[in-house]
Amino acid sequence: MSAQRLLVDIHTHVYLPRYAAFLRSRTSVPRIFTRTSPESGKPEERLLILDDEPSGGRPIGAQYWDRDEKLKFMDRHAIDVSVVSSANPWLDFLPAQTAHTLAGELNHDLETYCSTGPSLQQDLKRLYGFGLLPLVPGATTESLVSTVEQIASLPHLKGIIMGTRGVGKGLDDEALDPVWAALEKAGLVVFLHPHYGVDKNAWGEKENGHVLPLALGFPFETTIATTRLILSGVLDRYPNLRVLLAHSGGALPQLSSRLASCIAHDPLVASRLKHDARYYLGKLYFDAVAYGSEELGFVSDAIGRAEKYANAGASAAVSSAKGTDGTEKRRAGAKRMLFGTDHPFFPPLSATEKWKSVVENLEAIDGVYGWNEAEKGAVRGGNALALFNLGA
Ligand code: URA
Ligand code: ZN
Repeated sequence: MSAQRLLVDIHTHVYLPRYAAFLRSRTSVPRIFTRTSPESGKPEERLLILDDEPSGGRPIGAQYWDRDEKLKFMDRHAIDVSVVSSANPWLDFLPAQTAHTLAGELNHDLETYCSTGPSLQQDLKRLYGFGLLPLVPGATTESLVSTVEQIASLPHLKGIIMGTRGVGKGLDDEALDPVWAALEKAGLVVFLHPHYGVDKNAWGEKENGHVLPLALGFPFETTIATTRLILSGVLDRYPNLRVLLAHSGGALPQLSSRLASCIAHDPLVASRLKHDARYYLGKLYFDAVAYGSEELGFVSDAIGRAEKYANAGASAAVSSAKGTDGTEKRRAGAKRMLFGTDHPFFPPLSATEKWKSVVENLEAIDGVYGWNEAEKGAVRGGNALALFNLGA
């Protein structure tokens, strides 16, 4: 099959068997526990990972750890290649030494998961992965950098997945500079993914299941973390660092002009960045896990206009942005967007051949106004092959 036609899922998770066993051994969140199903009366495993989530947690089963289940899901949805990442909360809750040791073991496990899996063609496997860093309070630079080097030495690991806490002070912490430098040097993609959401008091007292934390808390968390990353100048200091944002960057595209304006009006920050805030959207990558064509189109507009803001000081930005062309900009933005599923989260509530969450994301790509077949194919897979340097 032509590489242009491949469907590549870059947002797809696993709890590797070693990690799932670890979660089963725990008595506090995050944990996997067994209960008697209220429906069937039989034992069933449940996943409890979010603070303050309903105490029954969520259903969990083999699709979270069994590679054959991942491949079956891929086949069912015609996904050719998956770049698999450990699911949240990664190692965030562990003491530094435990996190370091487990990171090393899980990175090896994921390499084996990928390398012993099937191939699509001679130079292309069906599975690649994002490794884990021991990003926890107390982690030493040496531990973090040596784990970056370990991941870089594992041929099927093409990046790392990380949450938003860094080593306890978020991603704008200077202590992370050696880590960004090592990741940039190694050419590993950083997949930035939420876990904590925002202050639970924002959700009120009504029982709304997981809807508010997942629909709003997750993307707002990504929005805040990425904004802090931009404000700290990390993207200026490490211009070749490649950061991929979960859930299409949350609300960042929608808020990026407001962010630029707030920066321009704040003497503390106005001269700090090399570029207008909107420029940095063109340095980032965005998954296409937004479930709607209009949202994808909008995100691509916000990315595609970024170049207009290069070198524009905060006050010069508005005039330099004039004259942008609609669909050209939209097509340019599509170069930084990549299909994903979030599997095995959001399973269908009743048995169906195809998962609604997957079908919706594919239909969303197909329906973006102004994207031609070239852009759609790129978002489905071509961009991923280029970003992760996969295949010939
Ligand atoms: N819920 C999670 O906890 N993680 C995901 O990645 C998606 C949904
Ligand atoms: Zn996810």
